[in-house]
Amino acid sequence: MLTINNITVDFGGVKAVDNVSFSFQDRELLGLIGPNGAGKTTLMKVITGTVKPTSGSVSLDKSNLNGKAPYLRIRAGIGISQQIVHPVNSMTVLENVTFAAGHSKTDQVFLSLFKTNRAIEKEEALNLLKMVEIEDVADEKPENLPLGYIKRLELARALALKPKLLLLDEPLAGLNQSEAERLSNTLLKLNQQGQNIILIEHNLTEVVRICQRLVVIDNGKKIGEGEPKTVMNNPVVRTAYLGRS
Ligand SMILES: Nc1ncnc2c1ncn2[C@@H]1O[C@H](COP(=O)(O)OP(=O)(O)OP(=O)(O)O)[C@@H](O)[C@H]1O
Ligand SMILES: [Mg+2]
Repeated sequence: MLTINNITVDFGGVKAVDNVSFSFQDRELLGLIGPNGAGKTTLMKVITGTVKPTSGSVSLDKSNLNGKAPYLRIRAGIGISQQIVHPVNSMTVLENVTFAAGHSKTDQVFLSLFKTNRAIEKEEALNLLKMVEIEDVADEKPENLPLGYIKRLELARALALKPKLLLLDEPLAGLNQSEAERLSNTLLKLNQQGQNIILIEHNLTEVVRICQRLVVIDNGKKIGEGEPKTVMNNPVVRTAYLGRS
């Protein structure tokens, strides 16, 4: 479904991504892992179109995304949930997701802002809040909520755009292990319902538990790929992690 073909990103002499190729199959929950500075976020930005690769190509459903602006990629089905979460604090949780659901129907931000009849979007938003298990705080303002809820709100907002492929950059960061386990279970449930997900994460316990397949990068290069437990037993992968911890 998504193909990463010999991607290299050179930041003025530093190869953040060095000739990486892999493909993503329909219905997968794929973990993209590697030590700090490995090039994971840069690779994700190449997929979303905010970083232009020095060479290589990315294609979605066999159509080449090279040169396509980020908003066209979102329209083609690439969805993201970013590392830094920023909900609109003046809106309630439900309004935040309703607004995002409205976005998926109109490309004009202002039209969606001033639309009066939002019954359908509101129902969609409520369903999403149920899916990510935060419907109990639907009428709260995000600023009053703990991080675990904010992360789920961010996930619901990303899902509201109905992405064919959801890219998550460290969704578990900042959560304690029991919260991380619960959010991972939600991601697993979404995937079992058919949501395609690429998960960038440092929480290897959860990654190994929920992902079907891993791609490991270190220093910009792909150093491992395959079934999680097998990949984590690969001496090259072990050295990459141990060597820098
Ligand atoms: N805009 C930029 N200009 C120059 N160098 C950059 C830029 N963005 C990232 N880098 C460098 O590219 C390398 C890869 O960074 P990247 O953020 O992709 O790593 P990462 O795997 O996401 O790391 P982390 O796990 O810490 O988030 C690092 O050496 C980083 O310093
Ligand atoms: Mg990163």
